[in-house]
Amino acid sequence: MSRKKIIAGNWKMYKTPQQAREFVTAFLPLVADHKRDEIVLCPPFISLIAVVGATKGSNVMVGAQNMHWEKEGAFTGECSPEMLVAEGVTHVIIGHSERRQYFNETDDTVNRKLEVALEHGLTPIVCVGEVLEEREANLTEDVLRRQCSRAFRGISAKKAAKLVVAYEPVWAIGTGKTATPEIAEEAHMVIRHEAEKSFGKEFASALRIQYGGSVKPDNAKSLMSQPDIDGALVGGASLDPQNFAKIVKY
Ligand code: 13P
Repeated sequence: MSRKKIIAGNWKMYKTPQQAREFVTAFLPLVADHKRDEIVLCPPFISLIAVVGATKGSNVMVGAQNMHWEKEGAFTGECSPEMLVAEGVTHVIIGHSERRQYFNETDDTVNRKLEVALEHGLTPIVCVGEVLEEREANLTEDVLRRQCSRAFRGISAKKAAKLVVAYEPVWAIGTGKTATPEIAEEAHMVIRHEAEKSFGKEFASALRIQYGGSVKPDNAKSLMSQPDIDGALVGGASLDPQNFAKIVKY
């Protein structure tokens, strides 16, 4: 089963709309003929419109870093799936560890967001991953199984077709400590197996699972060469157009 890799840049809370446009101007020519992989930029909400506009007609797609599950309502500070779709956003990151850690995101809210993102035709990137204490206590597999099964609860394989999962071990995020390709591959196999339990074998073998956590131009190739690693979710190294282009073209 060949899976098209998805390389996404998660800019987190970096770049003004002007800086975002400048990035796109520099980045697009560097990846213009790159057809092998799906390329996605995920800027903060305020820059989504700028990045959608600047990437129009190119091979680069745009994702949000979060969304609410309701259509509209009194939810100060939130953004709905409908609003994202209306502006040409195609992807959305759900359940990033920083949202779980600082903004009270739970397995339950991830499940609600996933369901609604799929209903709106968005490509959801559901993030899972263990913290250091869990890895040291040999709980990685349990954590991944729990996060996946709860995220996928009540969703059919048919509905979930566009699902992407990102394995992001929390101890590897922003630390410069990348999971070895072997550690990442092992975790990806656990996630694929859990997807098989929820959605069936055929679905699981087509499911794209990204790795995230200190992906850099010099380690992208060895990670991407693992059989179960189907792309990368890149933080820090996606802020520079040259670096991110090197990762895309690993
Ligand atoms: P870094 O690449 O900066 O470690 O961040 C990874 C990440 O959290 C992407 O979502």
